Amino acid sequence: MATKRFNRGVALVGAGMSNFGAFPGKTTRDLFVEAFKDMRASVDKGFDPKDIEECYFGNYSSSQFEGQGFTAPFIANAVGMNPKPAIRAENACASGGSALRLGVMAIASGIADMVLVGGYEKETDQPTEKVTEILATASDNLYENVAGFTFPGLYAALATAYMHRYGATGETMMKVALQNHENGALNAKAQFGKKIGDFIKMKQKSAEKKGKPIPEWDDEMAFLRDPRANPVISWPMRLFDCSPVSDGAAALLLVAEDMAHNFTDKPLHIIGNGIASGVPMHDRTDLTTIETATEAGRIAYEMAGKSPKDIQVCEVHDCFTMTQVIATEDLGFFKPGEGWKALEEGRTARDGDRPINTSGGLKSKGHPVGASGVGQIVEVWKQLRGEAGERQLPGEPTLGLTHNLGGSGQVCVVNIFERR
Ligand code: COA
Repeated sequence: MATKRFNRGVALVGAGMSNFGAFPGKTTRDLFVEAFKDMRASVDKGFDPKDIEECYFGNYSSSQFEGQGFTAPFIANAVGMNPKPAIRAENACASGGSALRLGVMAIASGIADMVLVGGYEKETDQPTEKVTEILATASDNLYENVAGFTFPGLYAALATAYMHRYGATGETMMKVALQNHENGALNAKAQFGKKIGDFIKMKQKSAEKKGKPIPEWDDEMAFLRDPRANPVISWPMRLFDCSPVSDGAAALLLVAEDMAHNFTDKPLHIIGNGIASGVPMHDRTDLTTIETATEAGRIAYEMAGKSPKDIQVCEVHDCFTMTQVIATEDLGFFKPGEGWKALEEGRTARDGDRPINTSGGLKSKGHPVGASGVGQIVEVWKQLRGEAGERQLPGEPTLGLTHNLGGSGQVCVVNIFERR
């Protein structure tokens, strides 16, 4: 198959997000307005929102979460975009990445010069049991959902297969959580922006307040090993192996590459954009890899003319901790079976040679599913422009990648961004 190419270049000139977390009383519209304002403030030379020609929004299921079955024109209205075309992309947890794909295609095709891309989800109005049920409708309704599989259950099968084949353990997953919470503690917009040590202090304070015996742990790993602090959710995964139930929104401004310098002197060029679809989990013969990620990565690297070793900043879809390890192999950063060792050696930490999820990832930052793929791009935007504050990677990185999975990995979107 010939290398995919854009008919004209596409640049990112603005990126912003709401806080991710639990926001009773706020709707996806409120959250998207916050994300839009944050994005607007990020456009260095400003822009007139009236110049936006098209809107593409990622949202998994406001219909089930909020009782709002139809969202794009409402969200467009909330930020003053009517009568511009507004279309919702639904691809489960990859809805945000898929909305970006549509935005990129609109500009690359020449149908628009300026496009708004967004993502939003409001999950916390529902109790966890209901959220689990709603999310499970993104699994195979004929063979998985009916058999009682939930998303923690499906990804636990993947973690078990990986552990069995390669020798990783529950401790590997705890180290992913440790690392992502270290990063998320430096991200003011993160839902659980705390180090594991901060969780320990919170538990101790709460016990003291209630007049109960104060629990003690030797260190962070002892806390994560303790089933009272970190109970099993779906074996082998525990609480700190799961991304949380979240509310949030994110927004991006795309323009035709030749106009980018009207908006900023530091645009990011979208040089690779790969998307792939795959079979449901119950039909796969190998659960230690996600083929859509390998395929979307292949397309994106080829389009960009880059290879895994070139990538300096990377946000992967760590909906569950072991999924992060598998993603680093699927993207070619490590050989199959080597990702967990690299993680345990600290190579994916902020000061490692292959930093992953400097934002805190979905684990710490939060996972409002339709917004997550767009939120990942906000982090790459910050890192490549030197605006990531305390979590900024050294050495002025110029190449970044995002990896956004949908369902049990039946969709993956991989994007590569370059600051020139
Ligand atoms: N990581 C760490 N701590 C978490 C957490 C998470 N993911 N989710 C909740 N907590 C904490 C809460 O802050 C709370 O702490 P406290 O007792 O000190 O106040 C405690 O755990 C209980 O919170 P609660 O909201 O009642 O948890 P829950 O049991 O209802 O939900 C999960 C926990 C793991 C079941 C839920 O977060 C979940 O389903 N996550 C997966 C979501 C998912 O599948 N997404 C799609 C992926 S493809």
